[in-house]
Formats: sequence, C-alpha cells, structure tokens
Amino acid sequence: MFVKASLITLALALSTGASPVFEGLGASISFGKRDGMTTADGWFDHPRAVQQVVRDRNKHRQNMINLERNMGKQAFNDGAEIMPMANYSAPPEKRQAEKLTDENNDEYWAGPISIGTPGKAFLIDFDTGSADLWVPSTNCTSTYCSAKNKYNASSSSTSTPKSGSFSIQYGDGSTVSGPVYAETVSVAGITVKNQTFSPVNTISPSFGSEVDDGLLGLAFPAISNLRQSPFFNTAKAQGAVKTGVFGMKLAKTGSELFLGGTDTSLYSGAPEYHAVTGSGFWQISSGSILVGNQTVVSNFQTIIDSGTTIIYGPPKMVAAFYKSINGSQVYDAQNGFYSFPCKSVPSTVGFSWGGKTWTISAANFNYGKVSATMCVGAIAGQDLGLGSSTWLLGDSFMKNVYTAFSFDSNSVGFAPLK
Ligand SMILES: *[C@@H]1O[C@H](CO)[C@@H](O)[C@H](O)[C@H]1NC(C)=O
Ligand SMILES: *[C@@H]1O[C@H](CO)[C@@H](O)[C@H](O)[C@H]1NC(C)=O
Ligand SMILES: *[C@@H]1O[C@H](CO)[C@@H](O)[C@H](O)[C@H]1NC(C)=O
Ligand SMILES: *[C@@H]1O[C@H](CO)[C@@H](O)[C@H](O)[C@H]1NC(C)=O
Ligand SMILES: *[C@@H]1O[C@H](CO)[C@@H](O)[C@H](O)[C@H]1NC(C)=O
Ligand SMILES: *[C@@H]1O[C@H](CO)[C@@H](O)[C@H](O)[C@H]1NC(C)=O
Repeated sequence: MFVKASLITLALALSTGASPVFEGLGASISFGKRDGMTTADGWFDHPRAVQQVVRDRNKHRQNMINLERNMGKQAFNDGAEIMPMANYSAPPEKRQAEKLTDENNDEYWAGPISIGTPGKAFLIDFDTGSADLWVPSTNCTSTYCSAKNKYNASSSSTSTPKSGSFSIQYGDGSTVSGPVYAETVSVAGITVKNQTFSPVNTISPSFGSEVDDGLLGLAFPAISNLRQSPFFNTAKAQGAVKTGVFGMKLAKTGSELFLGGTDTSLYSGAPEYHAVTGSGFWQISSGSILVGNQTVVSNFQTIIDSGTTIIYGPPKMVAAFYKSINGSQVYDAQNGFYSFPCKSVPSTVGFSWGGKTWTISAANFNYGKVSATMCVGAIAGQDLGLGSSTWLLGDSFMKNVYTAFSFDSNSVGFAPLK
C-alpha cells in the first residue's frame, strides 16, 4: 500500500516534469548515514557510542595538531589545546546482556565518488569536521580493509605520486596512514584534476567496521593534514562549481550533499546565516542552548561537524544544561553521557545564534534506554581540546535542519527542512 502510494507520487513527479529548483548551478549527491546510537530493540548502544567518542577526540586532536602546524597557536580558540591521545576501552556492561543488533546496518550506505582514470567508485563519509580525502589502497591488506573498495595506483592513467605522507592516529590500536597522490576525483559529476589525497595502507579498527570506504573532508584548508586544497576548494578554484557554497540534509533516509549552492527543494525560506569565526572549522559564535523558552547556557562557540553523531559541549556547560532536564543524572562520567526518564524525552531542546531557535526532535535527542525507565541523551560533556567554550554539533543536531556552508561569504546558514 505504502509502496504503491510512493510509486504513484514518483510517477506524478516525473510526468509533470517536476524538477528541484537549485540556488546556484550545482549538483547533488544522495547518501545514507548510519543512524543514531540505538540498537534495534531500543537500547543505547554504549560500546558504539564510546568508540565514537574516542574517534572524535582523536580526530579533533589531529585537527589541532594540523592547525598549529599550518597556522600557529594564535589560530586556537580560547582554552584550546592538543589533548592527549584518547584510548579505547570497552564500557562496563550496566544492564542485562541484550543482543546488540545494529538497527540500520542494511539501510546504511554512503555517497559514491570516483577516483582515477578509469574512475574507481568509493563510498565516502562527507565530513565537515576535517579537511582531507583518504580511501584504502590495494596495499592495505589487513582484515579491516578486506571489505573495502581499494585504490590501485597502477591501474589509473592519472595517478601521480607526491612527496610526503598522511597519518592520523585514532587511538584504537592503529592509525590511518599512507602515501600522498594527486588524482582526478569526481563527486556528483563535478570533476577536479590533480586533487591531493591519500590511498591509505592502514586503517583503524573503528573504520574497519564502517560500511563506507573512506572520508572526504569539507572543512577549511587550515586543518588539512596533507596541507593541500580540500576537494571542494579545488573544485571552486578549477571552476568546476560556480559558487563556493555546499548544502547538507542529513536524515535517516534521503541524506543529500549539494555542491555549488543549496537545494531549495529541501528547505523553506532563506537560510539564516552566521559568520564563521576562526580559520579551520565551520565554527560560528554566540550560540546558546534553550529548553523550551528558557536559555540555559549562552555565549559559546559552535562547530558544525557532519562526521559525528554526538553533540558535545564543555563538561561544565553540559552539566548546567542537564540541570534543566527533569530527572536527569550522569550515566557515564568518563565519556560525558547523561540519562533522563524515558517517559519524558525532551522535545524542546534547541540551539540559537540570535535568530530562530533550531529545535532537536525527541527522536534525535533520545539515544535509547539504559534501564526500564532511563534513556541517554544526544548531548555529551567532553573536552575535545577545541576551546573552553566550544561546542561541537554532530548530526543529532544537523538532522533537524538544512545546513548551508559558504566559503564565499565565510558563513554557515540554517533553514527549516521541508
Ligand atoms: C593513551 O595511551 C597513550 C600511549 O600509551 C598515552 O600516551 C596517552 O596518554 C593515553 N591517553 C589517555 C587519555 O590516557
Ligand atoms: C603500493 O605498493 C607498491 C609497492 O611498494 C608501490 O609501488 C605503490 O605505489 C603502492 N600503491 C599505493 C597506492 O600506495
Ligand atoms: C593493480 O593494477 C595492476 C594494473 O592493472 C594489476 O596488474 C594489479 O594486479 C593490480 N593490483 C591489485 C592488488 O589489484
Ligand atoms: C597540482 O597541485 C599541486 C599542489 O597541490 C601544484 O603544485 C601543481 O602545480 C599542480 N599541478 C598541475 C598540473 O596543475
Ligand atoms: C514560548 O513563548 C511563546 C510566546 O512567548 C509561547 O507562545 C510558547 O507557548 C512558549 N513555549 C514554551 C514551550 O514555553
Ligand atoms: C519539570 O518538573 C516540574 C515539576 O514537576 C514541572 O513543573 C516542569 O514543567 C517540568 N519541566 C519540564 C521541562 O518537563
């Protein structure tokens, strides 16, 4: 019944020639994201969440190392620092053993890109919180690479080895590292030549368990480990896109990256833009967090990071936030997770930058139950080294809005999803 209805809708859309209206002459790529931190039976997937915390800590540790090397410490936010490497240790089991089945394994698919000539396809995680492109190479022979698509330098006519090397330590027993190459790279039909990237020889266990092959960073060159123009900046410089704007819709299904503008068929009104502060991240200032109409913490920096699910804030600010959530308590002090009564999942938590309040839905706020009555929230207290008043908003926030990222006006915009 539902299937028929949607087929009819699709047929109507095609027969009336309905086509999306784009702001800017760009191209869209559809992709899927693994959704949330909840098992099929509604429990909080604690081991997976901790693995993500460790990966996020080390990713941003590496970003700060890159930023210091590329720009100097004066580019750091107040209170920012290079944190010690985070190490993974499995969380203690706090409940009766439940089967940890992944809710969305079969729905999870990442966006295709192609590298080389002839093009080799890869599934890619599009990450606004980093600035490099890497995929596994045929030289990666570990089991973590066994199910991945791999880049073979000898079977591409446009493969150009470069000097230097790429390395990011993820603290889960391994690094992502490899040599540096330049190649022809296509995303959504937008083709750039001479794109610097790394075909990696080793990947860390946490990437081995993901469905995507590698990562394409969409942040600023100032945090590039390769010290080279990231893909989208190269596309703009080579005239492959008309505008230096990209847009993202993240959702359980129907996620889309739009390169060279925004996809106006996906949102209402004009995006509310805020100026980027600092030089490496998609960071905007004067953020506040509200519960209902009540501002509970204000005047902080926020970094918009599509490469993680979790929303992080400085531990003290997050503690102040949960004080306004009835019945909440610390659940995992080490990783900064809090729980609250499942019978009253907050549905009025929102962020504001002085304009609209952008609310997080109850479904996006709730990471699942940890007992018969308590559930874990999407906001975690964690010092990622990004600054003493800097929050990091992952896709638990981004799924509630359409986000526009503009290199042209150095700003981030939010608009309501249609
Ligand atoms: C993780 O382990 C490394 C190497 O053993 C150590 O240098 C680092 O301090 C540890 N990190 C933390 C947060 O304990
Ligand atoms: C793989 O290893 C071979 C032999 O060491 C080397 O010639 C080649 O460039 C490597 N390819 C990649 C993509 O790293
Ligand atoms: C890489 O490509 C070359 C040339 O097509 C081929 O001979 C070689 O077997 C490939 N290596 C792997 C590991 O697929
Ligand atoms: C390729 O890019 C590098 C910088 O990444 C630049 O130095 C070089 O001139 C470029 N080569 C071509 C042929 O455009
Ligand atoms: C917020 O304030 C508006 C107007 O001041 C009011 O209509 C609305 O009900 C309030 N919402 C909540 C959740 O308190
Ligand atoms: C929290 O509990 C108090 C007292 O029971 C109640 O007045 C208030 O509305 C609750 N707040 C929320 C956000 O549910």
